[in-house]
Amino acid sequence: MSFVLRNVRPLGGAEVDIRISAGRISAIELSGTIATDGAIEVLGAGMVLLPGLVDLHTHLREPGREDAETVETGTRAAALGGFTAVHAMANTDPVADTAGVVEQVWRLGRASGWCDVRPVGAVTLGLAGSQLAELGAMADSPAAVRVFSDDGKCVWDAVIMRRALEYVKAFDGVIAQHAQEPRLTEGAQMNEGAMSALLGLTGWPAVAEEAIIARDVLLTEHVRSRLHVCHVSTAGSVEIIRWAKSRGIDVTAEVTPHHLLLTDDLVATYDPRYKVNPPLRTAADVEALRDGLADGTIDAVATDHAPHPIEDKDCEWADASPGMLGLEDALAVVNTTMVESGRLDWAGVAARMSVAPAGIGRLSEHGRPIAVGEPANLVIFDPSASYVVDPNAGASRSRNNPYAGRELTGRVRATFLHGDPTVLDGELVARSNV
Ligand code: DOR
Repeated sequence: MSFVLRNVRPLGGAEVDIRISAGRISAIELSGTIATDGAIEVLGAGMVLLPGLVDLHTHLREPGREDAETVETGTRAAALGGFTAVHAMANTDPVADTAGVVEQVWRLGRASGWCDVRPVGAVTLGLAGSQLAELGAMADSPAAVRVFSDDGKCVWDAVIMRRALEYVKAFDGVIAQHAQEPRLTEGAQMNEGAMSALLGLTGWPAVAEEAIIARDVLLTEHVRSRLHVCHVSTAGSVEIIRWAKSRGIDVTAEVTPHHLLLTDDLVATYDPRYKVNPPLRTAADVEALRDGLADGTIDAVATDHAPHPIEDKDCEWADASPGMLGLEDALAVVNTTMVESGRLDWAGVAARMSVAPAGIGRLSEHGRPIAVGEPANLVIFDPSASYVVDPNAGASRSRNNPYAGRELTGRVRATFLHGDPTVLDGELVARSNV
């Protein structure tokens, strides 16, 4: 099946027509000049065309917590958000710490067909932090794992972290660290600051994140390996990563959409939708994160899409599970916080949400230029359409959407995966129709 995308603006540039056939971009011509020739036309006047988005940090919850999300429901949400590839985090049940579990997740992703699923392997057995998982076997499995993380838990033991960094060099892997010093965050409920003092909630100090990042960049330099920092949330973390990059240390970092938009004053509502690890921080941190993303200190936006069933969120703040949905609204949040504020242009958005994350995850078919011969993994985005977020309208199995009731600007109109649409007119395309 072939498609002609009419009047789309690649990376926000001039309008063109694009033909997609046999899974690839087969022609790019001036608007109105490509003959339809039996292809299906997709109208994109005024819309931006980007390479399909790549998420480095998605919790798909399968196996083990299918009441919160499955590979099928999570990848539907991803397609609606414009993603063509996601990295599935390892904190499942059982933990993805063996070649068998990562292969299972990879096969479920292949069967779903909504986006490519690359499993993340755990760094330590059972995320317990004391013994390395079988990293090499996961790398050699059909899932070809390249990103390893104990996300949700920090690899706090410096010797284990050093060994993991040394080990993954053999297969060009990367350790993605959830930077949280465990002793400094015991019982923590929110960001440590004026608001936690006012609310009487135990605080999570910025230094708990920054101390681990500082240690890890030095370890990475020492063993000449590759480090990725998950969900950076403080101004001080941005400073340390900027310093590490200036020294030539091979470190990359991500920021979540929610840390680009939301602040810790929301915790005064005691609404557990705003409970997340790392916690929402201050307006000054948000500014520093936006600046860090704009100047490339932070390489990528990653959602940390963390679905939780209603009984784990509709309860007292202290008992609630941390985490927020993110896939379906990520591009609108980046549009609202980064593009409309003039900090990033569309080439910059493509770099942070597709090219860089594909590079960090070593995905060869994603984050590619929009050019003839390239794989047709693409998203068409209407940057001016605004909408009020309705948590019940989403494709995720869970409803813990932190943007519920907010107006965001920009909507995904179409997503193409390997040349076939997963989303058209903002709706999922039945896979049997493709
Ligand atoms: O808020 C969070 N939720 N942060 C994490 O690191 C883990 C995630 C989860 O798995 O729910």
